[in-house]
Amino acid sequence: MRTQVAVIGAGPAGLLLSHLLRRGGVDSVVVETRSQEYVASRIRAGILEQSSVDLLTAAGLGDRLRAEGHEHRGIYLQMPGERHHLDFVDLIGRTVWVYGQTEVQKDLIAAGTAEVHYEVTGTTLHDVETDRPYVTFVDSGGAARRIDADVIAGCDGSFGPSRHAVPSETFERTYPYSWLGILADVAPSTDELIYAWHPNGFALHSMRSDTVSRLYLQVPNGTDPASWPDDRIWQELATRLGHGEHGWKLTGGPVTDKSVLPMRSYVQTPMRHGRLFLAGDAAHIVPPTGAKGLNLAIADVTLLSQALVAWLRAGRPALAESYSDDALRRVWRCTHFSWWMTTMLHTGSDPFDAQLQLSQLRWVTTSNAGATGLAENYAGLPIGF
Ligand code: FAD
Ligand code: DHB
Repeated sequence: MRTQVAVIGAGPAGLLLSHLLRRGGVDSVVVETRSQEYVASRIRAGILEQSSVDLLTAAGLGDRLRAEGHEHRGIYLQMPGERHHLDFVDLIGRTVWVYGQTEVQKDLIAAGTAEVHYEVTGTTLHDVETDRPYVTFVDSGGAARRIDADVIAGCDGSFGPSRHAVPSETFERTYPYSWLGILADVAPSTDELIYAWHPNGFALHSMRSDTVSRLYLQVPNGTDPASWPDDRIWQELATRLGHGEHGWKLTGGPVTDKSVLPMRSYVQTPMRHGRLFLAGDAAHIVPPTGAKGLNLAIADVTLLSQALVAWLRAGRPALAESYSDDALRRVWRCTHFSWWMTTMLHTGSDPFDAQLQLSQLRWVTTSNAGATGLAENYAGLPIGF
């Protein structure tokens, strides 16, 4: 088959890119190894920056988000005995929204704009350095298929084949801890997210809706979720989140999902090689503490769709030529912010580090300049930054 853009991966980056291209008058075909049900229910990110919400709304994907999502003015930052609210609206006039990645995926699938081949195998990229790149794969019925395209968009995450097709420089940082994440059928015990520093380790109280809570605990790398029965999780969350302090209570409930997430910072540059463009996790990974992974994927494909529409419809290649540099400015800002939040909030065995973290947290929670820096990065710089 022939299309203008062959998109590899039907995660948020691939589906949104295909949607934006269609709105710009450019055809695309998406291939995805998993099933449609799987990609729509994979539990991952939960927070959208203001600019992501604005972009999704402008792309005609904002109705359910605005009806069912929850707009938050800010976050709480906590140390033992103290909880501080950072009000992003007062600080920078921007908000964030609680709306799960699963919901964004469902909205993209419901829009029906992307032609997706699910459950494919053997995805292979060919001739990306020429003007006639193509992708081969085996479809769900076992037939060998080929997509000829003007451009290939690698939106296949960190385990897909696209990033290996770009000769590149990589920058990487691993962290000596992971997150144990749970989803629970219980109303959140807080109106906005709580990021808690604690000598036992970091804890985060997030949420998905009025009846579903999402919580995380810092745990050592290699932790087996089976070693954390539900009672132990709720007890540790209560300790780290300060149950009983200043009259605040954490309410537990049935745990419906439990998993351990390793943490990594990773940036691959450039994000383009010949006619292959990378977007989202295929080019970069951030640790989840700053809630940036999904938002960065959305920012990348916003730039990439504009670049490809200008090039493939109007014959203007300038944005495609600057795509990698343009995208990497935001990628490195978010990489730094995610590293900064992560290293400020996760505890280790070094008492010197702990004092530095507490000093930084006091500065961020008591100085307008400190709080504004966090707010500007967390709520997200405008697209095109
Ligand atoms: P993905 O969502 O990974 O999509 C890539 C797609 O490509 C997948 O559907 C995959 O099946 C497909 N694919 C792979 N190989 C092939 C192939 N060979 N052929 C065809 N298709 C292929 N971010 C946050 O901001 N907050 C969070 O709380 C958070 N939690 C996370 C939890 C987990 C377990 C993980 C893995 C990530 C989390 N992230 C979080 C990061 C965030 O979910 C990602 O940044 C986001 O999904 C990136 O979207 P993407 O479309 O680039 O990649
Ligand atoms: C969630 C995940 C994050 O990494 C974060 O910083 C905030 C919220 C979440 O899954 O809800």
